[in-house]
Amino acid sequence: CGLAHAAPSSAPSSTLDAVLERGVLRVGFDAGYQPFEMTNKQGQYIGFDVDLAKMVAKEMGVKVEFVNTAWDGIIPALLTDKFDVIMGGMTVTPQRNLRVNFADPYIVVGQTIVLRKDKAGEIKSFQDLNDPKYKIAVKLGTTGEQAVKRMIPKATLLQYETQDDAKLEVINGKVDAFIYDLPYNAIFASQNQGAVVHLDKPFTFEPLAWAIRKGDQDTLNWLNNYLRQIKGDGSYDRLYKKWFES
Ligand code: ARG
Repeated sequence: CGLAHAAPSSAPSSTLDAVLERGVLRVGFDAGYQPFEMTNKQGQYIGFDVDLAKMVAKEMGVKVEFVNTAWDGIIPALLTDKFDVIMGGMTVTPQRNLRVNFADPYIVVGQTIVLRKDKAGEIKSFQDLNDPKYKIAVKLGTTGEQAVKRMIPKATLLQYETQDDAKLEVINGKVDAFIYDLPYNAIFASQNQGAVVHLDKPFTFEPLAWAIRKGDQDTLNWLNNYLRQIKGDGSYDRLYKKWFES
């Protein structure tokens, strides 16, 4: 049997087809973003996004593989095919949406402020921080960083590669405030009540969604229909309770 009889080579036309062919869904995220993706003592990934990714893979009938990636390089990593989808609490922003496609939002959050405890009297809102004398820590490449640049432009901005480094600076009193997504900050503040205070009213509106490479209607269609299903059949609610209400 020669070439004439060979089946036409069919390169997968969508990420979905490539995943099915490979038998593995590769999920990109940046661990340490509680309660969405964390590493437990055994070195396993756990969290809301991790459970969702496992559910998606199970429904597709494939294995799941997690690709931990620094947040400020996560879109380039998606675009160069290091993984198939970002499931990492990514805020849908118009700028990111120029480079990737987003599925429908799976949760809505916003930025909040964790303050050094001794600043709680003088700072009541993000506007109060808008002064060069205040140092604000953020994680590099996040919407927290963008929010400070846009809305608190006069403050002194300090960028950190990891959220753990940024958060330690507030605990140690090296900076006045840390700005990040509400769910992360709620856990952070409740675990460090002696050192920090949480101003827990979000001052931005941030839908979080899964991101894929552009122009892939098949994969987008699958993800959005799957989301609608789990939101309607109770499985999303069970997961939400497990990670956000316990
Ligand atoms: N929602 C914020 C953003 O889109 C922070 C997400 C951080 N996610 C993570 N896995 N570390 O920039």
